[in-house]
Amino acid sequence: MSEQTETVHFYDEGERLPDDLPASPFPIFKQWFDQAWNERITPNANAMTISTLHEDGYPDSRIVLCKEIEPSNGSIVFYTNYNGAKGKQLAANAFASVVFHWDKYERQVRIRGPIVHASEEESDRYFASRRLESRLGAWISDQSQPIESREALLNKASEVISKLNLDASALMNGEDIEIPRPPHWGGFRLHAMHMELWAGGVGRIHDRARWTRDLRIENDQPIAGEWSSTRLQP
Ligand SMILES: Cc1cc2nc3c(=O)[nH]c(=O)nc-3n(C[C@H](O)[C@H](O)[C@H](O)COP(=O)(O)O)c2cc1C
Repeated sequence: MSEQTETVHFYDEGERLPDDLPASPFPIFKQWFDQAWNERITPNANAMTISTLHEDGYPDSRIVLCKEIEPSNGSIVFYTNYNGAKGKQLAANAFASVVFHWDKYERQVRIRGPIVHASEEESDRYFASRRLESRLGAWISDQSQPIESREALLNKASEVISKLNLDASALMNGEDIEIPRPPHWGGFRLHAMHMELWAGGVGRIHDRARWTRDLRIENDQPIAGEWSSTRLQP
């Protein structure tokens, strides 16, 4: 009998991360994201669960939509209300953990890192690209605040229309009108510090790899070292 240990070949089926892990996880992440998005494998293929630190000291999670991936500096962007629960939690603790899951391809991406506000220009640009109802909605909702009824919430639309001096008849006619970005609404940019790519494998012998880099934020700008990577057991 050969002394050499034989590989059990059926575990080689399914997706594999490259044997030599790339210097940065972002090209593979971006490829996975783009494929899920372009193939519309779910209505919100850009959805990610983001966890922040609740003021009670425990994690708090919810879904948001990832609107940008920037491989050049290793960051991602999502948009929200800065005064909502997650906005306040991020103001107190500017660090978050996110996870994407694309079930069809058995892929998972986990990212952790510090968070900064996206630039005003970026937030303006993205806000202007949103549908009219969503732009108005950003003014209507005091995100995460209690309200006595659905009706009271809907009534806030008229208040906003008069507060912003919007052309109500144009709105009723379905015309697209300019609506300024609320000062409390904009983007957050998460700079990846720890990242894991996970590809499902036969018999739960998945392929996992983790990348880590030193990273600190100075004047809202990241100062990042090189990534180092390691394969992980499933
Ligand atoms: C598919 C999906 C996409 C969502 N996208 C966003 C988003 O991009 N930004 C956002 O603020 N909330 C989004 N939400 C709502 C959040 O999950 C959450 O209810 C809201 O942000 C309030 O969370 P908070 O009270 O923890 O701040 C989305 C929910 C779902 C189910």
